[in-house]
Amino acid sequence: MVRETKVTASDLIAPLFVQQGLAANTPIALMPGQFRYSPETVVEEASALWKLGVPAVLLFGIPLRKDPLGAGAYDLAGPVPTAIRNLKSTLPEMCVIADVCACEYTDHGHCGILEGEFVHNDQTLELLRQAAVCYARAGADIVAPSDMMDGRVAAIREALDAAGLSATPIMSYAAKFAGAFYGPFRDAAGSAPGFGDRRAYQMDIGNRREALREIELDIEEGADIVIVKPALFCLDIIREARDRFDVPICAYNVSSEYSMIKAAGQLGWVDEERLVDDTLLSIKRAGADLIVTYHAREWIGAGSGIEPRRRGGAENNT
Ligand code: PBG
Repeated sequence: MVRETKVTASDLIAPLFVQQGLAANTPIALMPGQFRYSPETVVEEASALWKLGVPAVLLFGIPLRKDPLGAGAYDLAGPVPTAIRNLKSTLPEMCVIADVCACEYTDHGHCGILEGEFVHNDQTLELLRQAAVCYARAGADIVAPSDMMDGRVAAIREALDAAGLSATPIMSYAAKFAGAFYGPFRDAAGSAPGFGDRRAYQMDIGNRREALREIELDIEEGADIVIVKPALFCLDIIREARDRFDVPICAYNVSSEYSMIKAAGQLGWVDEERLVDDTLLSIKRAGADLIVTYHAREWIGAGSGIEPRRRGGAENNT
């Protein structure tokens, strides 16, 4: 009764990997319990989540072919647009969010178009505009740029409006830090950079003030929801963003945070279930309104069926 913060299924967003041309759901080795789905089978997983009360999914695409320019990112027949159409026809009420980034579609694995060894910020904006419009046209309810190029929120807003998609909101990864946080995800999506790292476009984990400046800029450019990630490494930034800004704050409980709990759980070194509870609660307590988490289904659905293991009570997140 006296607990100040509660987590409910309706706070959660489940990330799902959609691979083109996949015959059967494929387990992701570094993320036990997570799978790559085809644009068709992803509907079953989303249905289970929906029945459990999870209102939203966040889609990542793995295309058949990658190229230097990431053209697959704005192919209307690609994995994400196809999955969006399938999801919206079966689960019209579910909120379908499309991640917008080049790294799953480029053969070099960087989040944009290269000029020499560097990502060219402004050339990449054109790709992001096209990708965002492509997903919104396919029916995405929200587009979520995760590339960290400067000026992308304004560019995407302008492109959506020009395409008659002014009702599509932008959930921007406003404060996203570079580091070892995303290793399992990159393995799952085949999106590790072929050379170098992402430190020219993602932020330095030591920089709190810069994170707040990035969030402010994204809101000024028209972001409707902002994401802070990685969640557990950024609880201070989530709190400060919550206190300073009025838009919904979303925290991304990233792949390494998931895999660390899974690995320690498998070894019997930690109580996995309780640790997941505490993880989600801590992120919410820090000030997140929404949490992107790979734990969504198991946290509510305890493994096998879709019987709810637990559901929290009313929200209180001030
Ligand atoms: C794409 C993207 C990444 C994640 C979300 N969008 C990978 C990256 O930046 O390398 C990571 C999510 C996770 O680790 O769970 N840019």
